[in-house]
Amino acid sequence: MISVLASRSAWGVLTVSAGVLLLTQASSAQEIDSFSGLKISEGWLQVQATCTECHSAQLISQNSGSREVWKSRLRWMQDTQGLGQLTINLEDTILDYLASNYGQKVASRRAGIPDQLMPGNPYENAQ
Ligand code: HEC
Repeated sequence: MISVLASRSAWGVLTVSAGVLLLTQASSAQEIDSFSGLKISEGWLQVQATCTECHSAQLISQNSGSREVWKSRLRWMQDTQGLGQLTINLEDTILDYLASNYGQKVASRRAGIPDQLMPGNPYENAQ
């Protein structure tokens, strides 16, 4: 009897953890629109409609930045490239989407090599 109970609860634990696993996978996998390549989340349709008239959405997805950085890119396109005035609501939706889906990346450059690990400069004493 005890072993039956034990195996039942083991199944329960297994089923629950399988469920949790599925849930976490579903929430972390970011769906990508196969046509534009944009991440599908709130605001992506507005971005696709507003931002792919002049250039591909890849110009967007290969870039990243904070909300301020995205805002300055929008202003630059408005001032110099013919992007029209957007309503405040539309601009907010677009900036929220861009900042949360293509946000500032953590710096990915490696640190410089310390001087003592560098090879000697062969030209240093030449002349
Ligand atoms: C009226 C035309 C037009 C529209 C609409 C437009 N852009 Fe652009 N955008 C440009 C041009 C032109 C460039 C420069 C392309 C190049 O350098 O080849 C550019 C460049 C960019 C770049 C690259 C900037 C850089 O620093 O290299 C990004 C990012 C970008 N656009 C995002 C967007 C977003 C987001 C939207 C929607 C809000 C948008 N664009 C709508 C014309 C437009």
